[in-house]
Amino acid sequence: MSAATPGLDVILDGRQIDATVERLAGEISERFNDGVILAAVLRGSVPFLADLSRAMTIHSLIDFLAITKYERGTGRVRLLKDLDIDIGGRDVVVVQDIVDTGLTSAFLRAELQRRSPRSLSFCCFVDRSPARVVPVELDHVGVEIPDEFVIGYGLDYRGRYRNLKILATVDTRVLAADPDAYVGDLYLS
Ligand code: IMP
Ligand code: MG
Repeated sequence: MSAATPGLDVILDGRQIDATVERLAGEISERFNDGVILAAVLRGSVPFLADLSRAMTIHSLIDFLAITKYERGTGRVRLLKDLDIDIGGRDVVVVQDIVDTGLTSAFLRAELQRRSPRSLSFCCFVDRSPARVVPVELDHVGVEIPDEFVIGYGLDYRGRYRNLKILATVDTRVLAADPDAYVGDLYLS
């Protein structure tokens, strides 16, 4: 393995991720008796969703949605792929990789609330609250981080690094010059 590339700092290892997910799964399992619908936001939430749902001790249905930001700078968000399940009258937990500006969560709250779920909660693995543009209420938060870009455990830089079971802060200037800059440090070969 090459010497560490500047800017790389592992903030959670695999065991710390497991402990965090166990805690969140316990919190959610305690709140709902009739099971829940886990509404996962593609694509970054997938590793988290897989671990979270299996650590939960209650019945769940899993569904996916995808959103896109458009018109850069306007903060407007659009639904790219909707849920397939009707959430009316159901307990719903939105599962996100990270809440950053909060625009995604705020959009989803408004969009999903209109469908009259019995309850609507938000669970994210990472909360970067210093970057908030709109206030959002989060019910289950894995880890709070300062205003730095993170990769791993679903979080990507141009599609890379999602399958790492770590959470690491990186230098986006290094990545802008070479998106693969940390591959040598973070993968075995
Ligand atoms: P929002 O700004 O809260 O709407 O978050 C939008 C999306 O931006 C997240 O779901 C992530 O896909 C992406 N994102 C925000 N911050 C990071 C980061 O630090 N690493 C990787 N993706 C991020
Ligand atoms: Mg992304």
